Amino acid sequence: MNPFDFTTVIDRSNTGSWKYEAFAPDVLPVWVADMDFRSPPCILEALHRAVDHGIFGYSTARKELTTLILERLATRHHWQVKAEDLVFLPGLVTALNLATRLLPEGAEVLIPTPAYPPFLTCAPHQHKTAIHVPMSCDGKSWTLDFDALQAAVTPKTALLILCNPHNPTGRSFTQVELLKIAHFVEKNNLLLVSDEIHCDIMLSPSATHHSIAAICPEIAARTITLLSPSKTFNLAGIGCAFAVIENADLRKRFTPPNDDLVPHVSQPGYVAMEAAYRHGEPWRQALIKQLRDNCRMVEETVKACPSLSMIPPEATYLAWIDCRALGLDDPAAHMLQHKLAVGSGKYFGADGFIRINFACPPVTLKEALNRLTASIK
Ligand SMILES: Cc1ncc(COP(=O)(O)O)c(C=O)c1O
Repeated sequence: MNPFDFTTVIDRSNTGSWKYEAFAPDVLPVWVADMDFRSPPCILEALHRAVDHGIFGYSTARKELTTLILERLATRHHWQVKAEDLVFLPGLVTALNLATRLLPEGAEVLIPTPAYPPFLTCAPHQHKTAIHVPMSCDGKSWTLDFDALQAAVTPKTALLILCNPHNPTGRSFTQVELLKIAHFVEKNNLLLVSDEIHCDIMLSPSATHHSIAAICPEIAARTITLLSPSKTFNLAGIGCAFAVIENADLRKRFTPPNDDLVPHVSQPGYVAMEAAYRHGEPWRQALIKQLRDNCRMVEETVKACPSLSMIPPEATYLAWIDCRALGLDDPAAHMLQHKLAVGSGKYFGADGFIRINFACPPVTLKEALNRLTASIK
């Protein structure tokens, strides 16, 4: 028995949910990465207390929150950083843009694909060039293609954006892979952004999350690590995140001056982050159990459809499904006609794939998988 409720279907209609409002009410949305589960009771209670207090002025991280994060990084990531290394932000997409913004004019940014769509758009938003480098897949696992990465390097290459654990493939890179990435970054004198937002959603018992800056101190000085409780504790709409940047000069250049570019983290954002990290662990463990069950449901459905295939994710609540054998131009558009909204591979730099978010009650997932199967019959 799961001590927390991950089975009740909560009606999100008319709540301003982007996931649900983006499509007609009869469409089942499993596209964007937020969960259909309520956040943990400990967070809801903390937010209730903040509402009762009633003042939502400009906020800053309490010392207690900073200490909590430093302890968390030390115990879970084996990473000793200082309070001043943390830069609090309302979101990590903002951080991707801040990182790209500080590159010289004409700079090129390497992005292994498939990639979380804002990885692909942050460079053009900041008038830099995105270089897509396809990952390799042997049918059992996705990994970075180091030959292709090296071949893509030019004198203008300035940044590699890494996602670990990887959205959308669900890969959790091993220590050996991370050491290779560190070597590549060092050898080519690049800046590294390591987006680790999914690091607390490890599904595979044999996978362990490693923060690259923690295991490769030699590249910590050129690394911006991005973290947030928002995926794990379903806080995307509250907006709370932080970067870890050990290099003081890099941190100074990354951090917008005078609070005149990026809004403060909201007061509820800080409250939710602190409650999540202080009290959320039992709920997180229960969540993982549910997500493993849900993932198995997706795997079984995909196995039963000869024209679909997937490699089970080691982390995240996202299934990356290869639909190329269907021979459809746009599988996601086709599934939408069958009232199922999935993430379209074309936005991830990978036509022919779809992404399914399986962080929802099992009955919702079952319905989504039925629609998926019906759409390709
Ligand atoms: C890898 C990755 N980075 C960042 C984000 C979004 O971060 P935020 O909502 O803090 O901007 C997501 C959301 O799905 C993600 O998967």
